[in-house]
Amino acid sequence: MARLTINGKTLEVDVDPATPLLWVIREQVGLTGTKYGCGIALCGACTVHIDGAPMRSCVLPVSAAEGKQITTIEGLAPNGVLTKVQQAWLDHDVPQCGYCQSGMIMAVTALLKDKPKPTDADIDAAITNICRCGTFQQVREAIHAAAKA
Ligand code: FES
Ligand code: FES
Repeated sequence: MARLTINGKTLEVDVDPATPLLWVIREQVGLTGTKYGCGIALCGACTVHIDGAPMRSCVLPVSAAEGKQITTIEGLAPNGVLTKVQQAWLDHDVPQCGYCQSGMIMAVTALLKDKPKPTDADIDAAITNICRCGTFQQVREAIHAAAKA
């Protein structure tokens, strides 16, 4: 059994403590915005925030997330008002197939909290998410737009 706080709601789930958080979020809790890409912490599709820090949930045992604030893409705009990152994503038509984009947005949101005006070098260092559709240029433009918003 694990006691988790996800997007401000606390719940108990009946899982092995070693289960990756990603599967608990998707299968037990039903929040499917967080995606599975590689399963080995390389692609970033599964990025969520743990106490505000971006973490790759495919390799994080659920036991490591107990007692922490877990935020998924569904929790970024709880009142339906888009964040400046989400708005920049829309304004710059960033998503193509969209599969990597929730993880990308979570990573970028954490970057801008840490560095409100990131340079291209900051972006390259922090945003290592992989996009098979090659949206990297639009991602960069949208990050700079969100930083100015
Ligand atoms: S699915 Fe977690 S990093 Fe790729
Ligand atoms: S938008 Fe398709 S994988 Fe990134």
